[in-house]
Amino acid sequence: MSYETLSASREGPLGIITINRPEALNALSNKLVHELISALAAFESDEEVRCLVITGSERAFSAGADIKEMADMSAVQMSMSGHFFPLWDRLGRYPKPVVGALSGFVLGGGLELAMSLDVLIASETTQLGQPEINIGVMPGGGGTQRLTRAVGKYKAMDMILTGTRIGADEAKALGLVSRVVPKEAYLEEAKKVATEIASKSPVSVKLAKMAVNKAFEMGLSDGLDFERQLFYLLFASEDAKEGMKAFMEKRKPVFKGK
Ligand code: CAA
Repeated sequence: MSYETLSASREGPLGIITINRPEALNALSNKLVHELISALAAFESDEEVRCLVITGSERAFSAGADIKEMADMSAVQMSMSGHFFPLWDRLGRYPKPVVGALSGFVLGGGLELAMSLDVLIASETTQLGQPEINIGVMPGGGGTQRLTRAVGKYKAMDMILTGTRIGADEAKALGLVSRVVPKEAYLEEAKKVATEIASKSPVSVKLAKMAVNKAFEMGLSDGLDFERQLFYLLFASEDAKEGMKAFMEKRKPVFKGK
């Protein structure tokens, strides 16, 4: 399928989505959000795709919601048009693992998009922030909740109330990105990580992702119970038998997603 605001391609077991609105630093327009949802849906139903990579350009992963598009919207239009929120709902429940390849500006809705992904590989040039306060609004795509859970109250308040951006190294020290790499290597590293994930059992990857995400929603003892149930469930999979057998036979496992 072809899109106007992004490109989507298959590289072996990887689905690669590249946001492409250079004229607006990859700002998330309504069209882009809907095209992203449709690219995600296409990769979800493609059984050959085991892991996704979402990236932007070297200059910007995304500078946030499209301010020019939002400027004249009323509260009713914003809440009724399904402008943004279908994307966050979709990403929050997306069953396949998604690696974010970040570079340049990762701001506002762009950071909220990144924080909905699973592993974040950042170029050393990455600048992350929630600058919505500077334009008289506040994060609306999960920033107040996800950023606070990622970095704690005091850093989140600082970033959200002052709009201050942080660099890649600080983000890594705070646990807001997974890895920081030189600027030439961020996309390659993201694909490498995605390929590694794609080589695991899709069943265990799916359930492990689900369990980690539940850590944001459940108390510890319910979360541990949930984890235990998924762990038991995996013993019903052929992949678990294959993984353990391959270990004992000193060979690489062949996972079938069964
Ligand atoms: N929406 C629409 N257009 C945007 C944009 C955005 N979020 N960010 C940048 N652009 C456009 C600029 O208007 C400019 O277009 P023109 O050439 O037509 O004027 C082009 O992209 C290049 O941007 P700049 O000239 O501003 O580039 P710069 O290097 O000087 O500055 C920047 C870069 C610091 C990222 C600056 O563009 C900026 O502050 N952008 C806005 C960031 C922001 O406030 N994001 C939050 C949006 S609200 C939100 O996301 C709500 C939510 O939580 C859901």
